[in-house]
Amino acid sequence: MVISVMNKKGGVGKTTTSTTLASILAGKGRKVLLIDYDGQGNATDIMGVEDKEHLSLTINDVLNKIILEEELPKKEEYIIHLEKQGLDIIPANNELYALQNNLVNADYREMILKQLIEEIKEEYEYVIIDCLPTLGTVLKNAMVASDYIVLPVEAEVMAVDGLTEMIKHINSIKKKGNPALTIAGILITKANGRTNLEKAVIEELKENVGMEINIFNTQIPITVKVKEAQSMGETINVYDKFSPASVAYTKFTEELMKYVGDVRG
Ligand SMILES: Nc1ncnc2c1ncn2[C@@H]1O[C@H](COP(=O)(O)OP(=O)(O)OP(=O)(O)O)[C@@H](O)[C@H]1O
Ligand SMILES: [Mg+2]
Repeated sequence: MVISVMNKKGGVGKTTTSTTLASILAGKGRKVLLIDYDGQGNATDIMGVEDKEHLSLTINDVLNKIILEEELPKKEEYIIHLEKQGLDIIPANNELYALQNNLVNADYREMILKQLIEEIKEEYEYVIIDCLPTLGTVLKNAMVASDYIVLPVEAEVMAVDGLTEMIKHINSIKKKGNPALTIAGILITKANGRTNLEKAVIEELKENVGMEINIFNTQIPITVKVKEAQSMGETINVYDKFSPASVAYTKFTEELMKYVGDVRG
């Protein structure tokens, strides 16, 4: 099952969500691969991978091999096993910013990430992709490669900004090349318990993106502990599993698992 965490809006909690989701799923005994699919490499940092600018192989190298139709390196060379979190990661660093250009002349340029995932997905129950905040061919690759999309939005009045455009693109990819693609739902992040604001955000979402898209019941509260954890190279569920954000991310993970039909307990 391939799940992309995506929103073209920056800073809405994509990386926090994808890293925490991956870690919680692994904690529940699932085999998980996290793909850092953003040149900022934030997921790579948060998962405690050190010295990311000097990694011998990153997601960019592997995708370029596919573009050039070269043989892929051995999996152990580009997939890092994270002992503490019990999951695997394909890391990223700023070299990934070259991908947009490298894709321009590639054959089947929207299929490159999918080709990589096809090679490795058998070994995993979940592949979680932390997407970049830019709409373009790079992001379309994630839409083509995914079964499900989680859309984090920040609990604020302009939450729907850009969301309609994103959803239009997702629907177009669904029609043109990936009929199985499903928006699992919108996840409200950084909620600060101001019930009126959060109600207004939900109303705004329902009005603008339609009633047909699921909005997860669980909202993720804002807490400084999230940033603290991340600066230590940890996800919040590992750093402080009793913090309200950990509890909420666990509930969200369970909602998502149910949505995608994972009932193994
Ligand atoms: N629940 C939370 N409580 C407190 N801070 C949070 C929470 N979720 C995210 N943040 C902080 O908000 C910032 C943006 O979050 P994050 O990096 O997850 O967003 P993003 O959508 O991946 O951003 P980008 O678009 O740059 O990739 C980070 O500094 C993160 O630590
Ligand atoms: Mg991010």
